[in-house]
Amino acid sequence: MLTLGIETSCDDTGAALVEDGEVLANVVSSQVDVHARFGGVVPELAARAHLRNLPMVLDEALETAGKTLDQVDLIAATSGPGLQIALLVGLAEAKGLAAATGKPFVAVNHLRAHLFAARMAFPDLEPPFLGLLVSGGHTSLVVVEEGFAIDELGRTRDDAAGECFDKIARKAGFAGAGGPAIQKRATGGSPKAYPFPRAHVKGAPLDFSFSGLKTHAAQVLEDGTLSEADFCASFQEAIVDALLKRVDRGLDRLAAEGRPVTAVAAAGGVAANARLAEKLAGLAEARGLRFCRTPLRLCTDNAAMIAGMGAYEFTRRGADPLDVPARPGLGFRPPVPEVAP
Ligand code: KG4
Ligand code: ZN
Repeated sequence: MLTLGIETSCDDTGAALVEDGEVLANVVSSQVDVHARFGGVVPELAARAHLRNLPMVLDEALETAGKTLDQVDLIAATSGPGLQIALLVGLAEAKGLAAATGKPFVAVNHLRAHLFAARMAFPDLEPPFLGLLVSGGHTSLVVVEEGFAIDELGRTRDDAAGECFDKIARKAGFAGAGGPAIQKRATGGSPKAYPFPRAHVKGAPLDFSFSGLKTHAAQVLEDGTLSEADFCASFQEAIVDALLKRVDRGLDRLAAEGRPVTAVAAAGGVAANARLAEKLAGLAEARGLRFCRTPLRLCTDNAAMIAGMGAYEFTRRGADPLDVPARPGLGFRPPVPEVAP
């Protein structure tokens, strides 16, 4: 089955073609330059850029894959979570193509798709496995069960891990995406140079909280007492530690509940972080578990994961009606605010 995937939930315009699990094309057009001078993603500008870029991105994906729209069997698009006005662009395009061609359409949950990307990269990764989803908008620890059912064990109470990287990088004046900028500058620095706080959420040991760390790091930056490399290495370590601790506790809890997993998978943009990957690999190995690190092109926002997840959902539940709304607040768990396009 050849699936066309479309992703426009935030500031990346993506189109991809996936055939029976194989990624034939995965085109992403980033809008980093559009939003850079505003210090954050401006929803209206994101939507306009998606409108401008999507036709080109779609053409490029079809051309790279060597396919025509006629050959596509299924059209999938992100319906949430994300910026409502941005989601509507990709969703409307996908529905329009489905209506014009008579091909089936499937609405895809972006969070599930991030986790599915790990499965696409490691086709023999069988549920149940522990999934750490760490991106610019979300931080969750989940168990992926049979049928790709998601049991969310913990989530962030405030900022996402990637958001914390991004906000501190911006405050420090680093150009480009925050996580990669801090990772690069952490090279050669000491992760122990400064004891950044590791927050605990009372009564919820598997939940995350990064806002205290963010405030503290901003203050340390203002004080200006640390070298750039030491600051970045210690700050990165605090985030990595917080993530590792929840993975460790999550595995303990699952073992205590008699729910063993065979693997730990990391997905979402922050999973691209080399220090996180190194430490997760060590933790998994110490517990005799497999570690599956989603490769970069499938980690950060992309449409291949939407096409892959879409094909999977289609085989399980069939097509969705064309009046499916955008769901900006979609999570692993409802309730869900709905907005019809
Ligand atoms: O998954 P993604 O592309 O978008 C969302 O769905 O949010 O994730 C983007 C996030 C950004 O916060 C970015 O700073 C972070 O992933 N990121 C990293 C690295 N590469 C991307 N964070 C830490 N280290 C990296 N190497
Ligand atoms: Zn994402």
